[in-house]
Amino acid sequence: MFFLIFTAMKHLVAPSLLAADFTRLAEELSLVNESQADWLHLDVMDGHFVPNITFGPMVIEAVNRLCSKPLDVHLMIREPEKYIEQFREAGADVITVHYEACTHLHRVIQQIKDTGAVAGVSINPHTSVHLLEDILEEVGLVLLMSVNPGFGGQKFIYNTLSKIQRLRDRLTIRNLSARIEVDGGIGLHNAEKVLQAGADVLVAGSAIFKADDPKDTIRRFKEIGGEIRKFA
Ligand code: DX5
Ligand code: ZN
Repeated sequence: MFFLIFTAMKHLVAPSLLAADFTRLAEELSLVNESQADWLHLDVMDGHFVPNITFGPMVIEAVNRLCSKPLDVHLMIREPEKYIEQFREAGADVITVHYEACTHLHRVIQQIKDTGAVAGVSINPHTSVHLLEDILEEVGLVLLMSVNPGFGGQKFIYNTLSKIQRLRDRLTIRNLSARIEVDGGIGLHNAEKVLQAGADVLVAGSAIFKADDPKDTIRRFKEIGGEIRKFA
């Protein structure tokens, strides 16, 4: 007998610290703590995989001491396998590496899982979701980039919507439970479309931290789109 069980799951919202005011980091983090945010998204950039440099395990370790939300660490770095344990020790709950940055992606995903963190894989806007077919059952999260990674405040690339749909279809057909996270250029104006296409987790940097009332903006992100259906 074949049973399909549907559960209603509310989407998650992950503010991206990249757009925060780093001179007031403690205040920004207490705002996140008091908000309805589900995760805190942390963008690690190395100046090689992407043309920008941000922060590493030391800063994440400090953030972890002040932040009560799970830390969603997005590694935009080459050779991420060298640093997985360090990021886990710093407090990462979810560790996502880029498909384009890993020669031995399967091995890196196992390495992340061995630390006890949720393993995620990310693809750039030009990378097809078909290329993830043989890693999907190993990951807890797929992060679809909806801008070219490296900077906050860019425009959402609308082709991402069909990628979300294609990935959602594949996960449904294969009865896999990986979450779909979408990152880049997301605001209150397009979040509903992203959720309708099949996303589970919305990352938003500028739209939250540059807003007049970031906490209320997070609340509004949570209220968008109602509930999505997902296999259990
Ligand atoms: C871009 C980062 C994003 C970025 C999103 O490379 O991965 O997480 O912070 O910023 P916004 O929401 O401003 O596009
Ligand atoms: Zn990110």
